[in-house]
Amino acid sequence: MESTPPPAKKFKTSLSLCGQRRDHAFTKEMEQQRRELPISRARGKLIGQLRQLETAIIIGETGSGKTTQIPQYLYEAGIGRQGVIAITQPRRVAAISLAARVAEEKKTELGMLIGYTVRFEDLTSDKSKIKFLTDGMLLREAIVDPLLRRYTVVILDEAHERTVHTDVLFGIVKAAQRKRKELNKLSLKVIVMSATMDVDLFSQYFNGAPVLYLEGRQHSIQIFYTKKPQSDYFHASLVSIFQIHQEAPPSHNILVFLTGQEEIEAMSRMCRDIAKHLPQGCAQMSVFPLYASLPHLQQLRVFQLGQKNCRKVILSTNIAETSVTIPGIKYVVDTGMVKAKHYTPESGLEVLAVQQVSKAQAWQRAGRAGRQHAGICYRLYTEEEFEKFLNMTVPEIQRCNLASVMLQLLALRIPNILTFDFISKPSPDAVRAAIEQLELLGAVEHKNNQITLTPMGKKMAAFPLEPRFSKTLLLSPAFHCTEEVMTIVSMLSVDSILYNPHARRDEVHCVRKKFISSEGDHMTLLNIYQAFKHVGGHKEWCRENFVNSRNMAMVAEVRSQLHEICAKFGVRLVSSRSDTGNIRRCLAHALFLNAAELQPDGTYATLDTRQHVAIHPSSVLFHCKPSYVLYNALLHTSKCYMRDLCVVDAEWLYEAAPEYFGRKLKGVKS
Ligand code: CDP
Ligand code: MG
Repeated sequence: MESTPPPAKKFKTSLSLCGQRRDHAFTKEMEQQRRELPISRARGKLIGQLRQLETAIIIGETGSGKTTQIPQYLYEAGIGRQGVIAITQPRRVAAISLAARVAEEKKTELGMLIGYTVRFEDLTSDKSKIKFLTDGMLLREAIVDPLLRRYTVVILDEAHERTVHTDVLFGIVKAAQRKRKELNKLSLKVIVMSATMDVDLFSQYFNGAPVLYLEGRQHSIQIFYTKKPQSDYFHASLVSIFQIHQEAPPSHNILVFLTGQEEIEAMSRMCRDIAKHLPQGCAQMSVFPLYASLPHLQQLRVFQLGQKNCRKVILSTNIAETSVTIPGIKYVVDTGMVKAKHYTPESGLEVLAVQQVSKAQAWQRAGRAGRQHAGICYRLYTEEEFEKFLNMTVPEIQRCNLASVMLQLLALRIPNILTFDFISKPSPDAVRAAIEQLELLGAVEHKNNQITLTPMGKKMAAFPLEPRFSKTLLLSPAFHCTEEVMTIVSMLSVDSILYNPHARRDEVHCVRKKFISSEGDHMTLLNIYQAFKHVGGHKEWCRENFVNSRNMAMVAEVRSQLHEICAKFGVRLVSSRSDTGNIRRCLAHALFLNAAELQPDGTYATLDTRQHVAIHPSSVLFHCKPSYVLYNALLHTSKCYMRDLCVVDAEWLYEAAPEYFGRKLKGVKS
């Protein structure tokens, strides 16, 4: 196939689980801990069963040892030694921290026997036999090799999360297993795991695969509900934190589930403020935020052992809901809320919004309290409310924009994506909307009643990027701005480049002024990267400008990987130099589906469906009112906000998709 992406490049991270003790006593303690895991008692029987079975569904309480032990058991029993054992995780932080833990347990260097692969980062070698990877990465590998020949075992972990990538992988591994059998190739063992899942659904889907129940939980967890419904979960969690803080010994750490970065940062400030003014004799408190876009090293700080006589309070999004083990957590405070994607195919809008969790999620959250000791979970809702929660989380595939995944399925040469063997089918409207979007991007065409990838679509699928961003990159030579677009796309692919400590916001505002472009956030990011390059990536410069230097190093790495893929397709590398209009015009040609227009009353409406939207306060355009803007994402909190904006001309949108905009644009002649 023409669009085979090159293997992910090696990128050495400075990952060290800071603060973890690695001395002899610690090793002994860890060995002891391993032996005491509930799964350890079932080891012999489990290996016997897994040796026989082609496919198994494993369900066992959180903390019983599934994720860290089963791959090791298989390997030690010689199962799957001819190839690699893969374990997928929905989140990168989980894949990385689990690989680190298992390497530690096996006393080997991470990247040798045990490795991990996440987007733009690959810490594996030829010697790696146990590989933790995000579900998205395994899906990418399947594009190159749909039979997944390198693997002898694929463990799809945290199946209950039903991320769109895991859902598609169910179909991919099922097909790979069948085809390998038909072709008389090395067999593929498939294991689906979770602590909370609809086992019948999975067993049925995998042709009646047996369900193995792991008995026992290591530590008990007490659950408490509120007596009355809480109208303000934020306030209720603050009260709970300080109640626990005043009553429990300081070594008992607290994990609080909130919904997003802004909320978590606000809660951190309040907790720190209140903690300062507590009466003497009260234990100290250190507060740690945890969310996906937090700089990596700060994320890792959560895993450090705490100081004596100081309570750790961790304020987290659902990133800590599964897989990760945070030491010393005794209390979990569950607000019952989560920020999740919603998609309506009719409006074409994918929005992040706060909503109630499912029962399965609530159980996962409670489970975080009993990983190392008996624990307590305070649910900030009543038992009656809990009973009304959905049993299982609605699969992401039924609530997200499918353009990206459809492109990948087409690249996998799935003959008819409308009849792909999904475990839960996406709505036909959502599939149709995704195909329409890909058609507008020039990635697919209809041929003899079939949908096929165009040459452009094949190239787009080879980039580990959303279709609209790979399209921007592929279009950029025509607008003489490949270098700049590559930088912008790389900057957007790495979380939290800018560091905004609230306490120093005036200072931040002052030093950042020089980078701000009146043309929007994309161009501002470009300015920051160029300034960074100009000083040779100096760390001191990063510190002065509140730029995260580790993440900037990652941007450079991402950029060089994109560079390689571009080179492979012969994409010309040209620079627009000082002409920023060309860059924005190029962005308009690929991101035109996310455009909004200023209304006479000063508000904005999306061009697609006239949805009311506003400019997010984090945007450099917050106080401006350009007539037309592009945005990267929509976020629904008190209003529907557009994030990461770029000023564009209506004419550019029109020339990007004349037919489409003929119907949508008011101000432009068609
Ligand atoms: O997958 P499951 O929830 O069954 O458990 P696991 O991730 O295999 O972890 C089993 C136990 O190992 C946890 O309960 C922790 O006691 C310990 N562990 C740890 O201390 N540090 C880690 N990074 C991972 C696991
Ligand atoms: Mg697990």
